[in-house]
Amino acid sequence: MYVCVCRAVTDGDIREAVEQGCCTMRDLRNTLDVATQCGRCALTAREVLNDALQHLARDIAGAA
Ligand code: FES
Repeated sequence: MYVCVCRAVTDGDIREAVEQGCCTMRDLRNTLDVATQCGRCALTAREVLNDALQHLARDIAGAA
């Protein structure tokens, strides 16, 4: 699903960016340009970011 229409960023793009090392909204802005135009997507982008970070933490904990 598209999270940021202005920059054509999907939830998959955000999850992939997290897997590549992004862990803050600043990282996402710098990497994907998400929330850099109208800003309406910022809340949803943050929710997807937090969800992706939780999944990553679970994966790491499960692998240990
Ligand atoms: S929808 Fe993301 S900046 Fe406009």
